[in-house]
Amino acid sequence: MRVLLASLFCCLLVLPARAQPADIPESPVRYDTDLLSPAFHQERRAAVRATLPENAVAIFFSAPVRNRENDVDFEYRQDSNLLYLTGTHEPESMLLLAPGGITVDDETVTELLLVPPRNAFTEVWVGRRFGAERAQATLGVEKAISHERFSEVLAMLAQDPERRFFHLPLPTGVTEGSALADQLATFHAHVKTFSISGNFLVQNATRLMLSATTPAAFSRAKGIIGGRLEASDIDDPAVRAAFEAFTESSDVEAWNTWREENFTAAFADGVLLQEIMQQLRAIKTDEEMVLLQRAIDITTAAHREAMRSLEPGMHEYEIEALVEYIFRRNGAEDSGFPSIVGSGENSTILHYNTSRRAMTADDVVVIDIGAEYHGYTADITRTLPVNGTFSPEQKAIYELVLQAQEAGINASRAGNPFQSPGQAASQAIDAGLRELGILKAGGNVRSFFMHGTSHYLGLYVHDVGSYGPLQPGEVITVEPGIYINPSPDVDPKWWHIGVRIEDDILITNGDPVNLSADAPRTVAEIEALMQEQGLGNLPNGVTGTH
Ligand code: GLY
Ligand code: MN
Ligand code: MN
Repeated sequence: MRVLLASLFCCLLVLPARAQPADIPESPVRYDTDLLSPAFHQERRAAVRATLPENAVAIFFSAPVRNRENDVDFEYRQDSNLLYLTGTHEPESMLLLAPGGITVDDETVTELLLVPPRNAFTEVWVGRRFGAERAQATLGVEKAISHERFSEVLAMLAQDPERRFFHLPLPTGVTEGSALADQLATFHAHVKTFSISGNFLVQNATRLMLSATTPAAFSRAKGIIGGRLEASDIDDPAVRAAFEAFTESSDVEAWNTWREENFTAAFADGVLLQEIMQQLRAIKTDEEMVLLQRAIDITTAAHREAMRSLEPGMHEYEIEALVEYIFRRNGAEDSGFPSIVGSGENSTILHYNTSRRAMTADDVVVIDIGAEYHGYTADITRTLPVNGTFSPEQKAIYELVLQAQEAGINASRAGNPFQSPGQAASQAIDAGLRELGILKAGGNVRSFFMHGTSHYLGLYVHDVGSYGPLQPGEVITVEPGIYINPSPDVDPKWWHIGVRIEDDILITNGDPVNLSADAPRTVAEIEALMQEQGLGNLPNGVTGTH
């Protein structure tokens, strides 16, 4: 059997190599009919161009294909900025925006999409490809060409000494030898670039280096920058050159001179494009709100099903399977982030996602989940008593988090600083924990509430935005929590109670709107719904184990 399979596999491998592009059947590349419209993307591209100087070319790369064990690729997720500006789900694509025009094949256009050419092998093994002609017609870009022409286009653009290239932090984790790796090499060959990219430590060190414009900051940063150079984890040659120049600078004046001469302009262009994309993406249009609300509605349905189904003895993974079944059953492509189902001692682990524990009657379980629908993700948390009724201690903590969340939601108003909901929630939790005797004099509320209260939500769970004053059209989460781990300072009756409540809030010119209000939130509502029977605990239900 194994031999037979192996030879079949080999045959399959040689067949597509003989096929010619003309042989590739004309099948649809996309099936969904409620995707964002070409007009939406067109308008977004126009908005980016409108903010760029005439001699600019902004380049957007696709997300890398991620691979498992040098074998099978993970399901592909497009880079959110490229998705936002074009709607394409194809890897190895690039978008160029040029307010002053790019001339290709005697045609001058202000937007150019470079796409993988149609390829019989890829289309047999992985999926359909647009090819340039269909990409242009389906996505409504001014012009689409094969990505094989990237080098030619870039060389032509770079001939202009006045040209300014704008780009976002470049993709990382790119497989050596892949088309994207080649595209990045081509880019570096033509464009003098500097951006905050690389791993987390490199990014932090880069920020430190950029802000080191005073003698004190300069000497503080020296050790850290030297350490990163020693660690040899800086991939971007331009970033490496800057780190080296920094360590070789005798004093802050020498450094500031080098900085001005070598990368301030290039770096400023990168920051500018990041800011443009943040501002655009943070304010959701009506068309985007339809998709985000759909992701939220699917997720509230999953929460209701979890409430109906939860009972002692179930494993965390059964609830995870159930909510993800509801996601997919309702058309969500994926979860926006790994589902968090943490019970008992796991309820206090903020991003616990292994879901292996069997739940017992005395536990609470934190369920922090979000369906992703056409790119937009929800992010909603509910905390449930596994036996259907909150104990007095669980109820006291739950009510306090709910009160803090209400204070946070109420502070989610246009014009308020981004931190306002967090400050309101923190104050409520601080006062409440002191009243319960959990937080002692001199104690810090951060020991029990150790994460932020809000982030933007949209094409990514921790979406982009300015983190400045709240603006109408932004969607943020409000998600306070209290997490009590065993400690000699805390009465054991409180141990292992973790509670988080998270909703998705639209900022308006008036009152905040809770987009996820369909998921029961009060103690009474939750306990009532938990009396009902759900898909996960029918006698012959979905899991088959109950
Ligand atoms: N689900 C991750 C978060 O709440 O930020
Ligand atoms: Mn969140
Ligand atoms: Mn969450």
